[in-house]
Amino acid sequence: MKIIFLYIMSFLLLNAQSSRYDMGKELYIKNGCHTCHGMKLEGLHQYPYLANRAKGYMEYKLKRFRSRISENQQQEMMIPFAVGLSDDDIENLSIYMNEFVEEKNKKRYDDSYQVHGDGGS
Ligand code: HEC
Repeated sequence: MKIIFLYIMSFLLLNAQSSRYDMGKELYIKNGCHTCHGMKLEGLHQYPYLANRAKGYMEYKLKRFRSRISENQQQEMMIPFAVGLSDDDIENLSIYMNEFVEEKNKKRYDDSYQVHGDGGS
């Protein structure tokens, strides 16, 4: 009985481990990170891109912002978005940013339609 319990527990733990990417993604949307850094983590103007950046550096920066440390006025913008994050949140977000893959099969528009012939022109 104990062994079965341990088996189930380790399965649950392993499962939780593998979905850190998804938890990070959820946090990224829930906290509005996409409004500045983009849905594809591509960045825009003064907002840096975050896709596939080093996990350690992302964690380091988020923890500094959380401690209200910024190197310049521009970075101060990040502080309110970092203060509410737990260590776990930062870990999950950093995994998501580091391992980010664009979901190519989720198309916003169906562009599979093809015109045959010359369109009557
Ligand atoms: C209001 C716009 C805005 C929002 C929302 C926002 N950021 Fe930022 N972010 C910035 C700006 C501005 C910088 C600093 C750019 C610079 O260093 O010049 C920054 C920097 C960062 C950096 C450091 C990147 C680097 O190159 O040093 C990380 C990591 C980051 N943001 C993650 C996040 C995460 C995760 C969220 C959501 C919890 C988030 N940001 C929400 C504007 C925003």
